[in-house]
Amino acid sequence: MNPTKRDFLRLADLSLDEHRALFARARTLKAARSAAQVITTLAGRSLLLLFEKSSTRTRVSFEAAIQQLGGSAITLPMQDSQLARGEPLEDTARVVSRYVDAVMFRTHGDARLETFANASRVPVINGLSDGGHPVQILADLLTVVEHLGPRASGATFPDSLEVLRGKQIAWIGDGASNMALSWIEAAHLFDFTLRLAAPPAYRPAAADLSKLAKFPDGVTERGRVLHCDAREAAHGADAVTTDVWISMGQEKEAAARKASFDGYCVDAELMALAKKEAIFLHCLPAHRGEEVTAAVTDGPQSAILDEAENRMHVQKALLELMILGAFPSNT
Ligand code: CP
Ligand code: NVA
Repeated sequence: MNPTKRDFLRLADLSLDEHRALFARARTLKAARSAAQVITTLAGRSLLLLFEKSSTRTRVSFEAAIQQLGGSAITLPMQDSQLARGEPLEDTARVVSRYVDAVMFRTHGDARLETFANASRVPVINGLSDGGHPVQILADLLTVVEHLGPRASGATFPDSLEVLRGKQIAWIGDGASNMALSWIEAAHLFDFTLRLAAPPAYRPAAADLSKLAKFPDGVTERGRVLHCDAREAAHGADAVTTDVWISMGQEKEAAARKASFDGYCVDAELMALAKKEAIFLHCLPAHRGEEVTAAVTDGPQSAILDEAENRMHVQKALLELMILGAFPSNT
């Protein structure tokens, strides 16, 4: 067992210094992979991926991440486990954490995530919950840094947190989705402006907004969340991003949601209001013709494939930190 067990349930679970080091390590690991260099810092370690919702990217990127680092992954979809037949979450967490070195858990309410993490003796990583998708945001932020920051190669990269500071990010669509909530947390931690364009009924609750206003130690105000209309949000933005209108678990609300989000589609006209070099981000899966047009999703400003790829690189760095307790210094 790792005596310094800690969890990554939200972005604020890491300090700013750890985030800075994580981005640098992710870039080192990405450069190593593109140079076909094999790094096996997690040889002999295993990771459980426990899913209560569907997944493509999260499953494959975590499996590839730990396998490329020399470890192995065990994937357990909820319906194949005794959880589906009523075994308590705590018993599952207590048992599986005696087998593996870390657990990634994709679930519904954040209370389930907390319950699991409290009962687990190994680190638990949030692989998407109703309250956030922090590993996705790490990949999104790395993509912003790569596309909009100074380029560097080798083991030294510009300070990612400096690149993020002061950026203007436009969020168009469901302002209360797990992705929007993690973007809000990121705006405060990393000191950028999130311009949120969402129908009033789909804006984050005031309680969520204040819970997500996490600041580094000794700081009381940083970053901003502004409510705007879609055109104001996109105007002069460094990046424009959105998410599906109907998240997993909201299928029964589909008709009402589609009607409410009319006018919140990211199209070429909105992208044209952003900076010339602005990028479009989407965690995927995307619904072309709903929250974003095909022309934007597949257009020249779209960074969605780099963003998806970066899931694997940031998760490698995160797994090293969670399992080893520190980033390896000599590989
Ligand atoms: N973006 C993301 O988490 O994708 P999956 O649902 O396919 O894992
Ligand atoms: N908000 C979406 C994100 C999918 C990765 C959902 O929860 O379904």
